[in-house]
Amino acid sequence: MMETLLLNDSESSLAKAAQLIKNGGLVGIPTETVYGLGADASNEEAVRSIFAAKGRPADNPLIVHLACFADAEKYTAVIPKLAYRLAERFCPGPLTIILPKNERIPYVTSGGLDTVGIRIPAHPVMRRIIELSGCPIAAPSANTSGYPSPTAAEHVMTDMNGRIAAVVDGGQSEFGVESTVIAIENENTVRILRPGCVTAEQLREVCENVIIDKAILNELGKNETAASPGMKYKHYSPNADVVLIDAELDRFTEYVRENNGDKVYSLIFDGDAEGFPFRYLTYGADDYEQAHNVFQRLRELDELGAEKVFVRAPSKDGVGLAVYNRLIRAAGFEVIRI
Ligand code: TXA
Ligand code: MG
Repeated sequence: MMETLLLNDSESSLAKAAQLIKNGGLVGIPTETVYGLGADASNEEAVRSIFAAKGRPADNPLIVHLACFADAEKYTAVIPKLAYRLAERFCPGPLTIILPKNERIPYVTSGGLDTVGIRIPAHPVMRRIIELSGCPIAAPSANTSGYPSPTAAEHVMTDMNGRIAAVVDGGQSEFGVESTVIAIENENTVRILRPGCVTAEQLREVCENVIIDKAILNELGKNETAASPGMKYKHYSPNADVVLIDAELDRFTEYVRENNGDKVYSLIFDGDAEGFPFRYLTYGADDYEQAHNVFQRLRELDELGAEKVFVRAPSKDGVGLAVYNRLIRAAGFEVIRI
């Protein structure tokens, strides 16, 4: 166990965080999506300690964060023209583009793959730490593997205290769900491997064909391989048993009535709350709010001692698809459609 420093976002604190990373340390860093657990992506020892701190399977690759997309040329073998067009429109921001890696990215970082996910974060704290460290920063979400992602410094402390050098407090994450991960199939086709706040609709403004990978909403069969290794693991789950219920409010309420019990909670939309007769929390009125709140609420439900949580399923449009994707995994694909 080590002492985990809690740093603020002053210039001297960010210099300290950057120094820790340069020296091979792990630092919890705010981004506009969720908090990341950052280390020097080119330092194999440091990257191994990310996997150890999270309890993450070694074949699940890490995203590499850079200050600008032009820097991707240093770490990749080829960059298709489409990638530049996408970067122009969406970077910096919540988008990760999978590209063929070069030898400067070790296989520990890429989970043994010949590709690397490149992301240019928008959060000024993360950007400053990249600049000051001069390192490409490998950063998965800073949660214990399998648990909901952290959207505040205190969540990182809860999961990582004693295991990492420091956490930088940069306030609540703006978007609240992780970046959209895409693979480029050809000059006019991308495949979304993980939905996020850059939506399919927005990607279509730059790229003719946008494929939504089937693993986003469906459990992989035993013999299927995941385009993105993260897709095959149980994910985002609180201790409580989550059940996703895809239904209008009246049917949802009826279902909760029939299945209610001690330590059962509902997670519903803001507009559902008036007169709702059972224990509940709300997670927002629209897809952006739901993305912003979803992980925080799952953590809060654990703190309340919930053993079962019935979640009213969000829409699958726009940012809603990202929220639905996280919840269906939190629920271990247990969805009730009524
Ligand atoms: O918003 C985010 O992306 C956050 C912040 C910290 O930047 N990071 C994040 O990292 O969510 P992580 O490790 O929790 O999720 C990365 C996902 C995993 O599902 C992983 O399998 C996939 O991206 N991924 C990473 N590199 C990949 C690659 N080369 N090929 C396919 N999938 C990849
Ligand atoms: Mg993660």
